[in-house]
Amino acid sequence: MALERTLSIIKPDAVAKNVIGEIYSRFEKAGLKVVAAKMKQLSRQEAEGFYAVHRERPFFNALVEFMISGPVMVQALEGEGAVLKNRELMGATNPKEAEAGTIRADFADSIDANAVHGSDSLENAAIEIAYFFPATDVFAR
Ligand code: TYD
Repeated sequence: MALERTLSIIKPDAVAKNVIGEIYSRFEKAGLKVVAAKMKQLSRQEAEGFYAVHRERPFFNALVEFMISGPVMVQALEGEGAVLKNRELMGATNPKEAEAGTIRADFADSIDANAVHGSDSLENAAIEIAYFFPATDVFAR
């Protein structure tokens, strides 16, 4: 497996539940290193831009409202096969379908308030990391 980077967001619901540390601990135990991080209140424009691929979906407006409802924790994670590994840690989009022990099974309430985002491909990971972090704010470890 190759060393990869992926973009992770701890969404407003999970930040409000005070489980940032619990989620970071799962990343670390799985061999994923935090190589960039910041807490941030997304503007509407930033949230719309980030989820632009979903613009035509019926849930788009609700998704944007949710993502700007409170601060998020944004991080780049690095490790062997980081993109897939993070998706496995997250669990299915709908927490009702997420495997036991995954972040969404344990901390998400619904498909629209589902605790975390993770890049779904290496290509999108590079785009998403650059969306939030200038190269000088990502630290090779
Ligand atoms: P998606 O990229 O399909 O899922 P994932 O976050 O697992 O990569 O969808 C992006 C977000 O859009 C998802 O995390 C929550 C929201 N969403 C809904 O609110 N309702 C839906 O029916 C879907 C598919 C997604």
